[in-house]
Amino acid sequence: MGNLREALVYARENHYAIPAFNIFDYHSAWAVVRAGEDFHMPVILQTSAGTVRHYGARELKKQLEGLLERNQTEVYLHLDHCTDPKLAEACVDCGWDSVMFDGSALPFEENVRLTHEAARYAHKKGVCVEGELGTIEGAEEEAKAEKGQLAGLEESLLFIEKTEIDYYAPAIGTAHGVYKGVPNINFQLLEDLAAVTMTPIVIHGGTGLSDETFQRLVNCRAAKINISTALKCAYFHGIKEFMEKTPDDLSPLTLEDQCFQRIYEVAVHMLKTFRI
Ligand code: 13P
Repeated sequence: MGNLREALVYARENHYAIPAFNIFDYHSAWAVVRAGEDFHMPVILQTSAGTVRHYGARELKKQLEGLLERNQTEVYLHLDHCTDPKLAEACVDCGWDSVMFDGSALPFEENVRLTHEAARYAHKKGVCVEGELGTIEGAEEEAKAEKGQLAGLEESLLFIEKTEIDYYAPAIGTAHGVYKGVPNINFQLLEDLAAVTMTPIVIHGGTGLSDETFQRLVNCRAAKINISTALKCAYFHGIKEFMEKTPDDLSPLTLEDQCFQRIYEVAVHMLKTFRI
């Protein structure tokens, strides 16, 4: 297995995107890996900074070790939206394949400086880095923004060049969480970026986008698409259904199976949709 940048470049050239699912425990991770294996597609297990703090980086890595070592499909471990350089370094040291340093709330120069520092630290250990520019509306745990602000072409290229990141997440009008209306996505920026840079592009805020939108994003050469809220909804709907249908059943494993199945179905849907 090569590194995640190579896998994303390959995906971009071969007209598919690799989904990055925000998993939160062993079972959610297992459901995602199982879907990847069944559909012969690479998957990214994405951990929020909050999830890493909850378990501890070393402990979480140990929990996921067995899934990362399976060799039936490529499985990558990525840290999502990290604003704390020390936490990003801890994940690099504990064996994550990739980390996102999120300096998007900072002034441009400061974002560049800290993202570049994160990239230099990670690259020395063979770990890839994602950076973000602009503001993605909504909330992904600690990453919260009332109002989005789109990234522009010139500043995007400058950001990619100065930070030496492996893949780039521009704010293009998608949002974290559930959409309140139809998002107005800047597909033009993706097309312009694809024409001038080989750096793979990451799309945040996947939950709630239509299948047509996903396919248009892949057509515009998006290589990594993040999905978080849909997994959490699947998990809670699984619990709700179990409690409503079988309130007297005290079998935790049956409950876990139901949640697993719902998460698996979300992952399968995305894997099928992200291929054109
Ligand atoms: P959603 O919660 O909208 O799927 O966004 C996920 C995301 O972008 C994680 O960084």
